[in-house]
Amino acid sequence: MNTPQALTQAPAAPRARWWRRIEALFDSPQAYEWARAHWWTRWMVRRRTTQLFGYMAGFVHSQVLLACVQLRLFHTLSGAPATLTQLAQQLGLPPERLGPLLQSACVMELLALEDDHTYSVGALGRVVLSHSGIADMVEHNHLLYRDLLEPRQFLQAPDQGAMAAYWPYAQSDGAAPALRQEASGQLRHYSALMDASQGFVITEILDSYPFGDHTRVLDLGCGKGRFMRAVAQRFPQLQLQLMDLPVVLDLARQGFAQAGLAARAEFHPGSFLDDALPEGADLVTLVRVAHDHGDAALHTLLKKIAAILPPGGRLLLAEPMQLDGPEASVVDPYFHFYLQAMGEGRLRSPAELMQAIRAAGFVGVEQVPNALAVHAQIILAHKPRVNPVKEN
Ligand SMILES: C[S@@+](CC[C@H](N)C(=O)[O-])C[C@H]1O[C@@H](n2cnc3c(N)ncnc32)[C@H](O)[C@@H]1O
Repeated sequence: MNTPQALTQAPAAPRARWWRRIEALFDSPQAYEWARAHWWTRWMVRRRTTQLFGYMAGFVHSQVLLACVQLRLFHTLSGAPATLTQLAQQLGLPPERLGPLLQSACVMELLALEDDHTYSVGALGRVVLSHSGIADMVEHNHLLYRDLLEPRQFLQAPDQGAMAAYWPYAQSDGAAPALRQEASGQLRHYSALMDASQGFVITEILDSYPFGDHTRVLDLGCGKGRFMRAVAQRFPQLQLQLMDLPVVLDLARQGFAQAGLAARAEFHPGSFLDDALPEGADLVTLVRVAHDHGDAALHTLLKKIAAILPPGGRLLLAEPMQLDGPEASVVDPYFHFYLQAMGEGRLRSPAELMQAIRAAGFVGVEQVPNALAVHAQIILAHKPRVNPVKEN
């Protein structure tokens, strides 16, 4: 298991440090009493109280969302709002039990209560409805939360639970367990989940990078190939290469055939860690791949990519990374624990990833701005053209 130093040594951002000093003034019970008694300081007490309560209650929020998904409330209520009595009858649940769920879902904006006492789909419920991958992830998170049930036990052996079994390639022995025949069901299952949840990431990448400047793109760890199909459709002149473990790559091949895009792509089954990478691409993409692997495996992979790219060829890496700002408290803990539970991977900061990319011989390493960093952040680099000293 990795013991990444950067995680324990990450310096606090300057703003966070001065802010923490101000907040520390309110730490004692007397200061708390004083602050809550005055309207000009009450907001701070209220903010901290709500924040801490939110952390304590987060699991309940997750379960409310899960219950809505499992009971198919969003589907049922879209286009056909219903009263508590009607819903209780339909779902076979006692109204006095269902009522608190519906009220909770309303304050969480998953559902909405109309003036005529009917429930409809709320603003966030509509988002869940319109992106099927969200409901899939909500149901899938059940595995993670089962692993996290005893956090101290989890921290002793994070990669021994249901999540590690779900992601067979993410263990220290790399792709070997994933290549066993008995793992093929899991590979299909996680590939469907990744396919369903990749839409947001694809939008971030396609809106941020001009693929049209390239001639051939290699997507490593392509999954079912949704990203490459989107690239193919938007950039008709591009040739594509896809690589993933054989069972997964077969799914990508089928997807390309169904979309009538098979002639545009080459399929390379194998392990990007253990097998040779296909040559010929002037852009290699790694989408939600690096964070699944430990530092040593990532270094190996990046070196292999640098070796097959022509001088000036590019690497584009996109995945969730540590965030800056208020979203970090919501998103980072999820990925820190998710990736630990998977196996060897970890959530890295953009700076750590850029450092790892430089260490593999790339230059011009930069972060490409994108709209919603929650879904993914993007790093771009290129292989030195002639003289790496001049390019840095
Ligand atoms: C988290 S999924 C991401 C899939 C896709 N890029 C996406 O964003 O939806 C990681 C992918 O890497 C593939 N993978 C993991 N280890 C691999 C290896 N050693 N060789 C080839 N593919 C691998 C997995 O099969 C999986 O499809």
